[in-house]
Amino acid sequence: MRAGRGSKLVSGWRAVAGAKVGVGRQGRAKELGAPHTPVLLAEVLEWLRIRPDGIYVDATLGAGGHSAAIAERLSPGTISGSLTGRLISLDRDAQALGIARERLKEFGSRVMLVHAPFSKIAEVVRGLGLARVDGVLADLGVSSMQLDRPERGFSFREAGPLDMRMSSGEAAEDTLTAEEIVNRWPEKELADLLYREAEEHDSRRIARSIVKARPIRDTAHLATVVAGARKQWGRQKLHPATKTFLALRIAVNREMEELGQFLYRTPATLNSGGRWVVLTYHSREDRPVKRAFREGEKAGTLKVLTRHVIVPGEEEQEANPRSRSAKLRCAEKV
Ligand SMILES: C[S@@+](CC[C@H](N)C(=O)[O-])C[C@H]1O[C@@H](n2cnc3c(N)ncnc32)[C@H](O)[C@@H]1O
Repeated sequence: MRAGRGSKLVSGWRAVAGAKVGVGRQGRAKELGAPHTPVLLAEVLEWLRIRPDGIYVDATLGAGGHSAAIAERLSPGTISGSLTGRLISLDRDAQALGIARERLKEFGSRVMLVHAPFSKIAEVVRGLGLARVDGVLADLGVSSMQLDRPERGFSFREAGPLDMRMSSGEAAEDTLTAEEIVNRWPEKELADLLYREAEEHDSRRIARSIVKARPIRDTAHLATVVAGARKQWGRQKLHPATKTFLALRIAVNREMEELGQFLYRTPATLNSGGRWVVLTYHSREDRPVKRAFREGEKAGTLKVLTRHVIVPGEEEQEANPRSRSAKLRCAEKV
């Protein structure tokens, strides 16, 4: 395996130019802990059909729960001089890489962590001197570590800055924050965003209330303003600001553009027979995945293996409420 130009050594592997590598704020890994529970873990492993000598990509490392389970099934060592049984794990969040690095240390050079968005999956794989890989996993959305830390700005339960960037702004294109949208966007654009990204039916009313309440100070203030604007939310299970926060998060992180690139580029990075597993948590994510798989099948490049989506059983949903909306889809490269 060759290293790309401008690469740096990480966990015994070289990583690529164009994808920033390494972890920031590593010292905080222990302090932050790894509280994210991997969703549909047994099913992910089953559908990925891991071969001990295969090469896999976990496109959404998070706390490394799925990555650790994949790495455990890989054999270390070399065959005819080339490395086998390897996992390349990506995340755009440096804090996640710091946490996962601690957790995955025991696997040594079997696991490589790359700080990159998954839209760059093809560049990362190519930059490592690999033609293709044997399986790709994406567990979309945000992790519990991101959601539960008020200072990241995703939480509507506690006051935090209106940020919501997964990447903490390391990349030049990651400058948009929730603060900018909430306090500066015109009312109509804000309402359109809420409706388009989260199907928020009270979008106009909420946008009007936000504009009236400007400047919005923090996430708790935003949640109160949205709750005040919603009609009859008392009977609903979801917090009234759930959809507003989801729409903002999607826009700030350009999640749909990222997903579109990932869906477009991944098939070319898979060996034939390679498996592609995607976990989604809401319809705005799930629809493009379903469409991409179906179009891949029509074009003769993919075979959809999950005719019906796989969802967590009652036991998992009870033990991990964040798994409730999860849907697993799997396709195989033809
Ligand atoms: C649901 S968590 C993954 C949890 C992980 N499977 C585990 O078991 O701990 C999603 C992770 O994907 C990352 N992520 C989201 N969008 C991304 C993107 N476009 N590129 C790279 N990472 C992304 C987030 O920063 C977050 O850490």
